[in-house]
Amino acid sequence: MTKRLYIETVGCQMNVLDSELIVSGLIQVGYELVDSPSNADTILYNTCSVRQHAEDKIYSALGRLRPLKEQRPEAIIGVLGCMAQKDQANIFRRADHVDLVVGPGQFNRLPQILEEVAAQRHREPRMEISLDRMTEKRSDVEESFGKFDPPRPPELRASPHQAMVRIMFGCDKFCTYCIVPKVRGPEQSRTAADIEAEVRRLAADGCVEVLLLGQTVNSFKDTTEGKLLRLSDLLARLNEIDGLRRIKFVTNYPRHMSDDLLQAVRDLPKVSPYLHVPVQSGSNDQLKRMKRGYTVEYYREMVERIRATIPHVAISSDFIVGFCGETEEDFQKSIEIVRWARFKNSFIFKYSQRPGTKAADTMPDDVPDAVKRRRNNELLAVQNAICLEDSLALQGRELEVLVEGTSKSQQKRTSQSSEIPSNASSNTVQLVGRTVYDQIVVFDGPRTLAGQILPVRVEKVDAFTLFGRVASSGAAKT
Ligand code: 5AD
Ligand code: SF4
Repeated sequence: MTKRLYIETVGCQMNVLDSELIVSGLIQVGYELVDSPSNADTILYNTCSVRQHAEDKIYSALGRLRPLKEQRPEAIIGVLGCMAQKDQANIFRRADHVDLVVGPGQFNRLPQILEEVAAQRHREPRMEISLDRMTEKRSDVEESFGKFDPPRPPELRASPHQAMVRIMFGCDKFCTYCIVPKVRGPEQSRTAADIEAEVRRLAADGCVEVLLLGQTVNSFKDTTEGKLLRLSDLLARLNEIDGLRRIKFVTNYPRHMSDDLLQAVRDLPKVSPYLHVPVQSGSNDQLKRMKRGYTVEYYREMVERIRATIPHVAISSDFIVGFCGETEEDFQKSIEIVRWARFKNSFIFKYSQRPGTKAADTMPDDVPDAVKRRRNNELLAVQNAICLEDSLALQGRELEVLVEGTSKSQQKRTSQSSEIPSNASSNTVQLVGRTVYDQIVVFDGPRTLAGQILPVRVEKVDAFTLFGRVASSGAAKT
């Protein structure tokens, strides 16, 4: 019986959540998680297709597994997720030691599929993927992207105090560079009742923060209750849940940043005033080629509307540099919008051509890699300077911080130390937490503070981390 599971995850938070749910499902049917493929008899890669680099990483990892598979042919090697849906049987051609290819729309059947593969005497490559939305009927395609949000026992969540909750699947926007609508399928919202029930369960289990996930989270809609429920209505319901303290949501699509949503963020005390609304480029020509569906003028007006409605709001963005046809002038406009919007944070990516997208089919990938790299660094430098200025302005301020647990360097120190203090749980250690704006705050305190929201006074900063001390009012709460 194959029961020792190794899983590696690349990509976005949606993938991290999927892996968490997969692991939790498999543990419940008797699997145990191990930390290296060499100790495992089921080896799974949950993959990403958004950029070539993410795929290359997986194909190299698969290559490294060849000797293991020769030694132990009974071990099951599976490729899951977006790359599985995109490359399908090509994965077996490139890596003929892979046993299993499972797309993101088939995860609900994974325990059963694994059981069947393990039971096979003569193992055939097994592929479970969803229908191609370019050729099949929408309702059939929707059906073939099965919903996957099983309940998970609290001890199987990555953190007892925080949880990701998917509120919708897929994407219908078809930005020309993006593979997501193809591999994650059509946009489908869960029902508000389902989501609320899940968040109630999480809160009852001690979870204080939820991060609602969707590719275009603000186009959430539920019509199953006889009226249209939007994200603002869902937030209002979740805001009522006892025990829950913070609600965040990603990723927003600029065109759906409606006033009811902004008012909900302003008025609901548990909703963080932190909005990730990617602009992707500051040039109208580029936005048009990307088929983003808005102009820079619209985006600026939207930012102004957000700032006028929600006091102390923070806005963050994604950018693609070196997309097809991007001139130096176009690129300068991206720099301009970063300076103008003063994003709290920007995630910047070099354009990576994705076979199967409109851009790959119709536009040459004509910006040389060296230019993409230089533009990436330049834009990052502008954003980082803003991050540092924002951080410096916080020195001496008291911020509300949700304590997540021990910091990475503390975990390293603890695992290297041979002496384990007898009262380890009450010792002062280096802790890490986050503000409502997702800023990382490092400070000292006992481990037992994990899960609490405390005031921390900021004493020292760099561009990405704030260092501080629990303010006396907060220390009393321990
Ligand atoms: N190349 C580079 N970046 C991409 N993204 C999506 N597709 C591509 C691509 N082909 C970026 C976008 C998106 C983020 C999640 O990934 O900025 O917002
Ligand atoms: Fe991709 Fe555009 Fe959908 Fe975002 S909105 S997932 S960038 S297609």
